[in-house]
Amino acid sequence: MDRMYIAGCGGMLGQAFYEEFSQRAELRCTDIDVNEEWLDYLDFREFERYRADVRAAAPECLVHLGALTDLEYCELHPDETYATNTMAVENAVYIANELGIPLVYVGTAGIFDGRQEVYDDWDRPNPLGVYARAKWAGEEFVKHNAQTYLVCRAGWMMGGGPRKDKKFVQKIMAQLRGGASELAVVDDKLGTPTYTRDFARNVRLLLERRWWGLYNMVCQGLTGRLEVAQAIVDESGLGGRVTIHPVGSDYFADSYFAPRPDCERLINRKLALRGLDAMRPWREALADYLRTDYEGYLLP
Ligand SMILES: NC(=O)c1ccc[n+]([C@@H]2O[C@H](COP(=O)([O-])OP(=O)(O)OC[C@H]3O[C@@H](n4cnc5c(N)ncnc54)[C@H](OP(=O)(O)O)[C@@H]3O)[C@@H](O)[C@H]2O)c1
Repeated sequence: MDRMYIAGCGGMLGQAFYEEFSQRAELRCTDIDVNEEWLDYLDFREFERYRADVRAAAPECLVHLGALTDLEYCELHPDETYATNTMAVENAVYIANELGIPLVYVGTAGIFDGRQEVYDDWDRPNPLGVYARAKWAGEEFVKHNAQTYLVCRAGWMMGGGPRKDKKFVQKIMAQLRGGASELAVVDDKLGTPTYTRDFARNVRLLLERRWWGLYNMVCQGLTGRLEVAQAIVDESGLGGRVTIHPVGSDYFADSYFAPRPDCERLINRKLALRGLDAMRPWREALADYLRTDYEGYLLP
């Protein structure tokens, strides 16, 4: 691909896509949060503007990355969530089809109901909350309507560093930086992390081979919030100095009130069968992430 358009590229995953593809292709990257000099403003909910901007860039591939990703915000703002996480994806499908180019969409492990111990690419989703319903609807629209597509499902996202990471790793790191010697972490939520840089690389490998379709794309290994938190503490050299208290999700019921599956562990069955699973074990990826993006972050 010599020219690519990446919409919603200002977040955690967008950073990794920019790093992965900017040396290899001419990029046009847009977002409503213009936080880099390589980003321009575009609200992808505005169909005509989105269409005109992509047409002008004449890309060989449209990557639709952005979404509202705060589950509590989504739960409180369902219309905005469906407009952003579903209808805007429909916009992307129309545009990609009109231009005759492939569409890349990022799905989520959160579309499952948590009753199984693990989910492969062919398991049946049953989304629980507004965010998950909206993302699943977007995924379904892509699969049923896009002429050529890649849908890659991510798990618990880690990437972007202190400035862009809005998720679990940053939340733990921020507490450690604040001097916390005790952490409360849920012991009833299971999942699989996804390191943004590995994800971007694996998407590139699929694009290069033109192996279209749906792929689970998470780090290797099954884990849970508690184990990931302990790994963050240990990788930061604070093992022994920080105590983690396991708690149930009820403990955080006021701040994290959106429904979440107890288990959203994915395995990359299709990638493995293709012989193209470049996702590393989650702990190795986590160590790499902390080394690369958090060096010096915990120093006083
Ligand atoms: N984060 C996770 O744990 C996770 C897990 C699985 C899948 N995913 C999926 O991965 C993709 C990338 O998410 P991420 O982790 O990089 O999240 P992120 O850091 O929140 O980035 C998403 C970006 O999209 C932007 N955006 C929101 N509405 C937009 C609009 N109308 N037009 C243009 N840009 C818009 C956001 O801007 P604002 O910040 O201003 O809203 C943000 O810069 C999303 O499709 C997400 O659903 C995420």
